[in-house]
Amino acid sequence: MEKKKLHIKTYGCQMNVYDSSRMEDIVLPLGYEITENDAEADLLILNTCHIREKASEKVFSELGRIKKKKLDKGGDMIIAVAGCVAQAQGEEIMKRSPWVNMVFGPQSYHKLPEMIAKTMRKVDGKGVLNTDFPEEIKFDHMPKPRVEGKAAFLAVQEGCDKFCTYCVVPYTRGAEYSRSTQAIMDEAQHLVDNGVMEITLLGQNVNNWHGVGKHGREENLGELIHKLAEIKDLKRIRYVTSYPSEMTQDLIDAHGNIEKLMPYLHLPIQSGSNKILKAMNRNHTVEEYLNIFESLRNVRHDIALSGDFIVGFPGESEQDFQDTLGVVKKVGYASAYSFTYSPRPGTPASVLPKQVNDQIKAERLSILQQAISESQQTFNDNLVGKTLSVLMESTGRRDGQLVGRSPYMQAVHCLMDESYMNQLVNLKIISASKFSLEGELVI
Ligand code: 5AD
Ligand code: SF4
Repeated sequence: MEKKKLHIKTYGCQMNVYDSSRMEDIVLPLGYEITENDAEADLLILNTCHIREKASEKVFSELGRIKKKKLDKGGDMIIAVAGCVAQAQGEEIMKRSPWVNMVFGPQSYHKLPEMIAKTMRKVDGKGVLNTDFPEEIKFDHMPKPRVEGKAAFLAVQEGCDKFCTYCVVPYTRGAEYSRSTQAIMDEAQHLVDNGVMEITLLGQNVNNWHGVGKHGREENLGELIHKLAEIKDLKRIRYVTSYPSEMTQDLIDAHGNIEKLMPYLHLPIQSGSNKILKAMNRNHTVEEYLNIFESLRNVRHDIALSGDFIVGFPGESEQDFQDTLGVVKKVGYASAYSFTYSPRPGTPASVLPKQVNDQIKAERLSILQQAISESQQTFNDNLVGKTLSVLMESTGRRDGQLVGRSPYMQAVHCLMDESYMNQLVNLKIISASKFSLEGELVI
């Protein structure tokens, strides 16, 4: 029988990328194959992001475009909206876009087979809405992941109990949940048995992962990484995203004594002002954040540090913003992400007084991004002349070019034979821009 066609369009974070690939694992055995062309899809899933207004708006404009494709196909297309916008605005999507067949949140996609069956049977002609947080855990109901390539994501923790006052994640992803050590080790072994060399552990608060080890003893992420490092053919381990007050000494030490743990840490601070951090309900100070970096550099001097920043949070003064710039100067980031504050419906910060106007937000963002760029350029310049181990993962823009990631997370381009694809190679860095490095093969 001819296979049906599945197309998933993914927005947002790495957790969404992981979820999309897990949805493929669930749907493909039902007689589907993946298509890159959304116009020919029998099942089209939008996996959405709600973190900022811009991300969220994309969904409604995309739905308009998709409606046309569905009509062009004689209506023969199941359309699903998944992810965080689905979780936050499920009913509104159903109302505004009645051609959508299924809407379900990040904790319900293991139910795709039954949702698809229900839609096909057109039980009551209505769409399927699945935005409750189910009792059962989706991870217990999913097949083993398909493996493509040499670098894979592995979700170890999900959800967030931190309730930063600007953020929708605790409402869209739900409460913090850690997968068991055994489930993680099994999944990691399966990935490595199928050729994976690099695993990135994922979680909204990945460094607050907790598991139960032998004799019922609680284990932390540092201990989990030690266990993973014992998997013989696993070459590289990363983890993202971390929260400052959960950086345990075990995890800091792991950076000093586990060679497979890559010298990179993404640790958002959001603001360089303690007043703003307090208003954000971040339970750490600027000084505590900087101390973590100092401890890390003591055990791993070359570690690449990364962060997230929000400018224009309500009440942010010029001095608060200058303090944020001060953090960028002090840390010497290898990379950092920065955003203007976007008021999100239902979050406490959205109704705070002293909202900062859009023009000031834009100006501050541009100044901050300039400072981050300079920091990135300095970090990358310091790598010129060094030899780095790089996992070649894709073809580059230029003919004969392959691209991989350095231990520090930058993209490294190299003119080299295609047979090096999917290999870990040593590249001598010959030039650096603020976003990427260029290397030459060392034989
Ligand atoms: N406005 C702007 N940026 C936000 N982030 C989260 N919520 C908001 C918001 N309402 C940013 C934070 C977070 C990153 C994933 O997105 O910096 O670390
Ligand atoms: Fe959002 Fe804060 Fe949780 Fe990160 S720690 S997901 S910013 S609430």
